[in-house]
Amino acid sequence: MYEYQDGPEFPKFLDNNDQLGHFRQRFYIKQGTIYMCGNSLGLACKDAEETLYEVLNKWKDEGIKMWNVDQGKYFLYSEFLADIMAPLVGADPDEISITGCTTINIHQTISTFYKPTAEKYKILVDDINFPTDRYAVDGQIRLKGLNPRDAVKLVKSRDGKFMSEDDIIEAMTEDVAIILLPAVYYRSAQILDMTKITKAAKERNIFIGWDFCHAIGAIEIDLKALDADFAIWCTYKYLNGGPGSSAALYINRKHFKLLPGLTGWYGNKPHTQFQLNQEFDHQQNASGWQIGTPTIFSMATLEGSLRIFKEAGISNIRKKSLHITGYLMYLIENRLSEYGFSVGNVKEDAKRGGHVCLEHDDAYRISIALKQRGVVQDFREPNVIRLTPAALYTTYQDVYDLVNILLDIVKTESHKKISEKRNFVV
Ligand SMILES: Cc1ncc(COP(=O)(O)O)c(C=O)c1O
Repeated sequence: MYEYQDGPEFPKFLDNNDQLGHFRQRFYIKQGTIYMCGNSLGLACKDAEETLYEVLNKWKDEGIKMWNVDQGKYFLYSEFLADIMAPLVGADPDEISITGCTTINIHQTISTFYKPTAEKYKILVDDINFPTDRYAVDGQIRLKGLNPRDAVKLVKSRDGKFMSEDDIIEAMTEDVAIILLPAVYYRSAQILDMTKITKAAKERNIFIGWDFCHAIGAIEIDLKALDADFAIWCTYKYLNGGPGSSAALYINRKHFKLLPGLTGWYGNKPHTQFQLNQEFDHQQNASGWQIGTPTIFSMATLEGSLRIFKEAGISNIRKKSLHITGYLMYLIENRLSEYGFSVGNVKEDAKRGGHVCLEHDDAYRISIALKQRGVVQDFREPNVIRLTPAALYTTYQDVYDLVNILLDIVKTESHKKISEKRNFVV
């Protein structure tokens, strides 16, 4: 743990000594708000705005010629962005494609790797992952004429919160063909031991893919060392790509010769693509897993937002994230525990991602009260308020102020006037 202090001077001291502090001015931060929701949707930055306008202006100026300008930058935009993305996951740029949305990319990768046989036909998943992964896996199983009730190998969390690596490994029986797991859990922020799990999968000849949605831009990832078979991730959370910004997928280069499960003309080799042959000529790298015309506007913001990650460096980002989330946990334990609050995530650095789980029996109403006081965060059933002090734009002062607001809410019991009825989006 780090040495933290209570009191109003300490956050000022930390902000004055924050080497990433200057990045905050490149983000749009609404006055009077404390933004703690970067694990759901990161904030807009000026860089993203700039690159979005660049693309818009290219289109205005060039019309269809825009595909060929700047040495085909936009025709090959996935490759251009993969170059800047690569250091964040420790892969070669040609193992990454910027395309689709996370869920489509799960369909794409599972349909590529899933070749069930009578003996080996199960897909191993867990019961506390974000549900879209499961929906996609079930769908892929049904497409093979199998029944998810039989073909899903479900590993259950023992407490509904955390997952045991040993339970996962124990479930890797001979009938398992593929494993799909999150690197960081969306609710509890638990980081799975990817090295241990991937190694166990490989020893048993099982393909393994990782969902990095809550890991990308928050923790360091080394796909070269991991040697997983595939991975997928979104770009709108910690990467600040904006709502619906294009997702990404990783295909380990040893699988480049596989045919994508979902083939489309943008997976064709670029130099024969416009010959428009009826036969698919697969581009044998991750670009070959693209399907249709890239969603250029949804990628353009990423060009700017990734620029900041390149400048800041993911190891510095992780360092600050651990420190500022540690500060929040310290304040929760020192000042809020007597009011029924507790830290719901694992405290060990190696086992926690970018957000803090603040637990309270009345979490839903406190979450609404926080929103009314300008603190943007979210609630997850049954009792968790997710708080993300983002390394690139949250100050230590924000964290200190947030804790004071929480104290004020519970002391004045202002949350008790709020209805318990849930909104559609919480
Ligand atoms: C682990 C995980 N996978 C996938 C998604 C979302 O998928 P998509 O980007 O297709 O909406 C989320 C969203 O929060 C997530 O947490």
